[in-house]
Amino acid sequence: MLRKLVVVLSVAAFAASASASAPLGLPELPIPEDNPMTPAKIALGDKLFHDDRFSTTGEVSCSTCHERDKGFTDSPLSTSEGILSLTGTRNSPTTTNAAYFRTFFWDGRSPSLEDQAQHPFLNPVEMGLMTHDPILEIVATDSEYVAAFREVFGKEPGEVTMDEVTRAIAAFERTLLFGNSRFDRYWFGGEEDALSEAEIRGLDLFLNEGRCVSCHVIEHDHALFTDHRFHNIGVGINDIQDRIPEAVSSFLAALARGAEVDETVLSEKLASELGRFAVSGMFDDLGAFKTPTLRNVAATAPYMHDGSLATLKEVMDHYNNGGVTNEGDPVNDFLSSGIRPLDLTDEQIADLVLFMEALTSPEYEALAEAADASGLNSAE
Ligand code: HEC
Ligand code: HEC
Repeated sequence: MLRKLVVVLSVAAFAASASASAPLGLPELPIPEDNPMTPAKIALGDKLFHDDRFSTTGEVSCSTCHERDKGFTDSPLSTSEGILSLTGTRNSPTTTNAAYFRTFFWDGRSPSLEDQAQHPFLNPVEMGLMTHDPILEIVATDSEYVAAFREVFGKEPGEVTMDEVTRAIAAFERTLLFGNSRFDRYWFGGEEDALSEAEIRGLDLFLNEGRCVSCHVIEHDHALFTDHRFHNIGVGINDIQDRIPEAVSSFLAALARGAEVDETVLSEKLASELGRFAVSGMFDDLGAFKTPTLRNVAATAPYMHDGSLATLKEVMDHYNNGGVTNEGDPVNDFLSSGIRPLDLTDEQIADLVLFMEALTSPEYEALAEAADASGLNSAE
């Protein structure tokens, strides 16, 4: 009864604010005034995103780690591989629906898609360039790029800067919109049979006993499954608990010597686990990471900023144990007050996993099913 009422209300809310451009379940697309989207700019960004000449080895592009066929991640790697198979410290987050994120990277150290896009080229464990000059040389000589930058930005070869390069990439990324999952059809579209009974039980746990929705937010007319904030949920930092003072002081010493935050957190495990602290300098932020979206999550295993949890079932066990991998392990001193043991039964955990699998957009259903068949998400 209550559920029906909620569905009716949310259908009405959706009808009032539906945006023609975004799929069911997503809000209106925010487009920065200084970077309007045009088909030619999006096509240019698409080419730049997939161009592996922008790395020292000529083998790594943005799409190496954010691959369309893998839900814009590099699943099943736990931490990304850049040039020469060098690995960083962090799991590649999806660029799906990144148009709506308010900060970028697991610790939010970048404020916009445009800003974010300049960093991977120079990161020594990603694309490894010393400066952006090799990119600007390629776009000044490749005839397709010359024509595109002239058409989109009115710039002649040699006049193009990283500002135009990153704006085109960001415009392309803003087209990676995925909604219209079975959850969306049920919750926002009013299709009562879009979810199974078990998935509806999982949704109820997500909203109530599991308290998942307090961080993975569902609004009245859309759902991004993130609160855009940072929380310590006991991943990564649990392994370095007795080394936190050492991690803090060596990170601060590195910064004092002029080290870049971007480079340091992606190349040193200890620094990476400091989380949001590396950006804010606040002790409350130790081990805190950005709440990720859960859309298409069934297609993007493994999970968490360090890729340390292999399946959605393992994620659920971690939450059920109150923020530790093995029941009874000590929690870390900076754990979010929102994380406590949940006492869910095995059946409830299975229902929650099924619900998360229903957040898959139609484009990724086949992929998510393949992952399920290989045992990646299995609820058993
Ligand atoms: C070697 C693998 C690799 C390459 C190449 C790479 N990325 Fe990433 N990307 C990552 C990882 C790992 C992170 C998370 C890093 C962190 O949080 O510190 C990330 C984060 C991001 C984010 C932030 C997502 C979020 O949830 O905040 C965006 C957007 C992004 N990358 C786009 C790009 C673009 C554009 C390029 C090319 C210019 C690129 N990436 C190249 C691995 C890669
Ligand atoms: C206090 C806020 C908070 C609560 C409550 C919470 N989460 Fe999370 N969730 C996060 C944060 C932050 C991360 C990333 C943590 C990290 O990488 O260290 C995360 C990560 C995840 C991931 C991994 C996604 C990925 O792409 O790697 C899944 C799945 C997930 N949460 C599901 C749930 C479920 C299901 C619940 C309820 C049982 C829940 N969360 C409750 C904040 C929260």
